[in-house]
Amino acid sequence: RDITLDELTDLCIRRGIVFPSGRIYGGLAGFYDYGPVGVELERNILNDWWKWFVETRDDIYGIDGAIITHPRTWEASGHVESFIDYIVTCTSCGAEYRADHLLEEVGVKIPEYSLETIKSLIENNNVRCPACGGKLSEPRKFNLMFDTQVGPRKSMTAYLRPETAQLIFTNFKNVVFTMGATLPFGIAQIGKAFRNEISPRNFLFRLREFTQMEIEYFVNPEKLNECPYFKEVEELRVNFLSAEEQERGVSEAKSIKLGEAVETGVIKNAWHAYWIGESLRWLWSLGLRPERLRVREHVKTELAHYAVQTFDIEYFFPYMGWKEIEGIANRSDYDLKRHQEYSGEALHIVDNGKTVIPYVIEPSFGLERILLAVLTDSYVREERRTYLRLKPRIAPFKCAVFPLVKRDGLDVKAREIYNQLKKHFRCYYDEDGSIGRRYAKADEIGVPFSITIDGQTLRDDTVTIRFRDTKEQIRERVENLKARLSELIAT
Ligand code: GAP
Repeated sequence: RDITLDELTDLCIRRGIVFPSGRIYGGLAGFYDYGPVGVELERNILNDWWKWFVETRDDIYGIDGAIITHPRTWEASGHVESFIDYIVTCTSCGAEYRADHLLEEVGVKIPEYSLETIKSLIENNNVRCPACGGKLSEPRKFNLMFDTQVGPRKSMTAYLRPETAQLIFTNFKNVVFTMGATLPFGIAQIGKAFRNEISPRNFLFRLREFTQMEIEYFVNPEKLNECPYFKEVEELRVNFLSAEEQERGVSEAKSIKLGEAVETGVIKNAWHAYWIGESLRWLWSLGLRPERLRVREHVKTELAHYAVQTFDIEYFFPYMGWKEIEGIANRSDYDLKRHQEYSGEALHIVDNGKTVIPYVIEPSFGLERILLAVLTDSYVREERRTYLRLKPRIAPFKCAVFPLVKRDGLDVKAREIYNQLKKHFRCYYDEDGSIGRRYAKADEIGVPFSITIDGQTLRDDTVTIRFRDTKEQIRERVENLKARLSELIAT
């Protein structure tokens, strides 16, 4: 059976993957810290993303922008005015809720995301406080950005970035000038984003501080269908649910080829389809089951203020249903034009002798949601054990080294082997407790290979390699261990 959210939370805390932040003070809702195991997994996913989308490509440049950002950035981007949710307060117990979540929970559809509509839907459906049944206040606008005061007199209000994307737009000209970038090209960034979510919930799913991995990919607006990589994805079959189907009441995705989706105009341009395909290929490479991933188009009421068309990549969480783990938006020239207008700086680029403000396709991944999907998807429960079937590539530790017992020189030999291996692979050493308990721990944190040093090792210089998924054990000569492990990790 699948893991529940409570079991997953318990596993993460018990095994040093993720801890509630400020736990000794009772925790702070919406904030988590990575533990010694989680930090390895987190970095492996981030590095894998960077390698896939930046290092191995010629058309994407990286940046790492500031977290506290110039306030004009967010006036220009529209976040000061439009990055809002509607909040309601219980007049009896004081609990606060996102109005659209309450409506969603009682099955009410929201035809238009405006204060007036939300207000009348709450009233007409007599929505009450889920905690105490009390009456709810009128909904009011709530801006999700965190602000802070900058300088010795704290005289300037700046914002903690609610998306990493805007730092890419404000650095567009810098990258074009310093790198000589020409269209089409992308700028990528990994970093923290902050949103004062009204009701953070579902463990790592809705956080107030999280990590985004974003690309803004710039294309000449007249060449949105001239994508040289399109043939790499056009034959890919994906589970797809369009806005039009949802408006007709369809809720099941159907399998279509990305090429067909462009041909029929469901996806408006080839570059957008390419980034959907390329994103899925990376998510599949992490080991996520294809049948638990789907592409769902945003219906009109969901579209962000900057978006022309958006597709979410959703993962089927057995304990929450289909939920977004990545958004892929067509932001048009909205952001560059607005920054040009607000800053007075020219933010165009010359393409084939013509000046253009590029269109932007934006694949935007949330690390914690992907991590949650990876943990959920890789969890395997067998009769006598549980383990994480993580790809060796992203597993927090590639191998664990164990002396069978802590005596007779086995521990000395095991440490010697560990000291050699740790130069090449992230591994750990454990000599405490029974070997069974040590295997169980390694399985639970997804260590793909365990190396055991036993009596025979001292006689013939061989060790056992135990495979996490099958529990099969093979013997290998110590001198071949590094090469054999490299091969196994690469699979
Ligand atoms: N720049 C576009 C943008 O920020 P978004 O759909 O608001 O778009 C992108 O966010 C991704 O960031 C989401 O797909 C999700 O994975 C992640 N994300 C957004 N809000 C989050 C939250 N409160 N907690 C955790 N992850 C979040």
